[in-house]
Amino acid sequence: MTYAAVIESSGAFQPWRDAARALLQAGIAPEKVDWIAADGLETRLEFDALPIPAGGGGPVTSVPPAFLDLAATVICHSDPGRFALLYRMLWRQVNGERALLQLHADQDVAAARALVKSVRRDAHKMTAFVRFREVDAPEGARRRFVAWFEPDHFIVARTAPFFQRRFNDMDWLIATPKGSASWNGEKLTVTAEAASRPEAEDETDDLWRTYYSNIFNPARLKVKAMQAEMPKKYWKNLPEARLIPDLIAEAESRVAEMAARQATMPLPFHDRLQSSFSAAPMPVPADDWEALRAQAAGCTLCPLHCHATQTVFGEGPRDADVMIVGEQPGDQEDLAGRPFVGPAGKLFDRAAGEIGLDRRRLYVTNAVKHFKYEPRGKRRIHQKPNIGEIEHCRWWLAKEIDLVQPKLIVALGATAYVALTGERRPLSEVRGQTLAMAGDRALFVTVHPSYLLRIPDERRKEMEWRNFLDDLRAVTRLMQAATAVE
Ligand code: URA
Repeated sequence: MTYAAVIESSGAFQPWRDAARALLQAGIAPEKVDWIAADGLETRLEFDALPIPAGGGGPVTSVPPAFLDLAATVICHSDPGRFALLYRMLWRQVNGERALLQLHADQDVAAARALVKSVRRDAHKMTAFVRFREVDAPEGARRRFVAWFEPDHFIVARTAPFFQRRFNDMDWLIATPKGSASWNGEKLTVTAEAASRPEAEDETDDLWRTYYSNIFNPARLKVKAMQAEMPKKYWKNLPEARLIPDLIAEAESRVAEMAARQATMPLPFHDRLQSSFSAAPMPVPADDWEALRAQAAGCTLCPLHCHATQTVFGEGPRDADVMIVGEQPGDQEDLAGRPFVGPAGKLFDRAAGEIGLDRRRLYVTNAVKHFKYEPRGKRRIHQKPNIGEIEHCRWWLAKEIDLVQPKLIVALGATAYVALTGERRPLSEVRGQTLAMAGDRALFVTVHPSYLLRIPDERRKEMEWRNFLDDLRAVTRLMQAATAVE
């Protein structure tokens, strides 16, 4: 005998949560439940399926908040199997597998994380690709705009607050086949009903096209990367997309034209940089940490040493189980000669403190050991290291790993990830994952704390902060697991 749990297919979490709670309280195992995603069409019910029992007020064993966070995102996915997957995970957690979410290789966990990733990606694409068109408004009323978007998942409710903040001073409606959102200056309304495409085209479309053709740089064209950023499925609703084929077709001849026009004289400081760069002999790396640090202090392997105050080498216990790898020293680190003492470091310390991770047990270092910046007035503005600089500095990082022999390495941000793996992948693809490294070592990837510092929007900042804490909690668990098996 099975039970039928019919859940409206929308991104709403509460209906699934109520049903799951009732089933759990009645002790009904996952294999006895047929989860049915009702999508407004015909719903398939077995003749003899039982309705789920009414939930009593009895207690339900609590589950980790991280699971509730994950479940609320997974529910937004359009995969009809999501309800069953989450109930199975819930069941396993209350029946002895409380640490389930830490089992990164577990099939259910991996499947749920993949759903989370595609929901996040879809939401991100929505914030980037919604295009408003102006429609008539009554005399004296605020200007009105409508947009049509076709998300893969039920993400309207979770992205609507972004549009409310960003387009607060106009009335707007975003219609999608998976629900709509509207804002009238006072109230944000979100509905789950499917909408149909509104008819609207205005001169903003031309503006988008002008803007796009102006920012398009043929010399930087990478068709694959561009299509990954702006997948073709979105093109039909993007006014600027119709320009893309021509811009690609003309790119080669435009680049040739640009090259023919360009001056080829090297910049005045080119020679100095070049000589300091190529003159540097590759040192033989020292075998003890102090000597290696002293050697790194005189590093001239790449031009970054020309302007930085000093090499900022790693610090922490020489036998630490965990090594934290950041990007490069910032302004304050460059002056102090120590990693992670500026704003990003302070934020990292706050996060670590909040979840009980003791920085004194960590070896903290950077992928690149010199501060790269651009002077602007009295300020030194951080510049991302390029792949060549990362490559040169990898040499020191590899030696640090060799000497410290950490069991777990945490990459903070994309630069650290590239330096540690040699792979260039979007951070969103690897964030939160535990990967295997040579030497029976695990690599955990998360964002760089300076990413959190740069988020202007308070709610998003808060959300990302919580995600970051979750990542550091995962680090703590991995660290405990790594040291427990000794
Ligand atoms: N950012 C980093 O990646 N490392 C530091 O040491 C400071 C800021």
